Amino acid sequence: MIYEPAEDSFLLQKYVKKFVKKDMKVLDLGTGSGIQAETAKEITNNVLAADINKEAVEFVKKKGIKTIQSNLFSNIKGKFDLIIFNPPYLPEDKREDKESALTTTGGKKGYETLEKFFKQAKKHLNKNGKILIVFSSLTNKEKVNEIITKNNFKLEQLDSQNLNHEILYAYLIYHQ
Ligand SMILES: C[S@@+](CC[C@H](N)C(=O)[O-])C[C@H]1O[C@@H](n2cnc3c(N)ncnc32)[C@H](O)[C@@H]1O
Repeated sequence: MIYEPAEDSFLLQKYVKKFVKKDMKVLDLGTGSGIQAETAKEITNNVLAADINKEAVEFVKKKGIKTIQSNLFSNIKGKFDLIIFNPPYLPEDKREDKESALTTTGGKKGYETLEKFFKQAKKHLNKNGKILIVFSSLTNKEKVNEIITKNNFKLEQLDSQNLNHEILYAYLIYHQ
């Protein structure tokens, strides 16, 4: 199953358009349908997409984007100027099937995947490198903020969007 672009994707895409610059080296982690990688590729040629899901990897490859299978950074070599990540960020819901949960569930509390991501991200950022993420109020915003600052990053909330039962947040994150 490949994640169908939704409000979170479109909110993040708005900032991909804004922050990707010509010749930037960009990583789109958890690429899914490839929406963020494709948007970035309109601005820079240097885009790598990655996903844990083989089906998504094959799908995005066919769009002519360099794509690899990777569990977070497990197969990612090198450093980037911008890392884009629309993570699975919802708390576990036992009624959801496994395949769908892989695209939506960030762990029991929802923020676990983001926590692992931030522990590893610094090694993959160039000097002045930045990160763009999106997540939801269902994830526990205070905890996400704490994870980011604990890992010595600064955050700027770029945007928020009210949906029916949640608020989406788009963040720009950079080195202290
Ligand atoms: C919410 S979807 C986002 C898809 C797309 N980037 C977008 O903006 O619409 C999350 C994506 O992260 C992928 N993913 C989940 N866990 C991952 C992990 N540990 N490493 C890499 N990708 C992961 C899922 O397969 C899914 O494609």
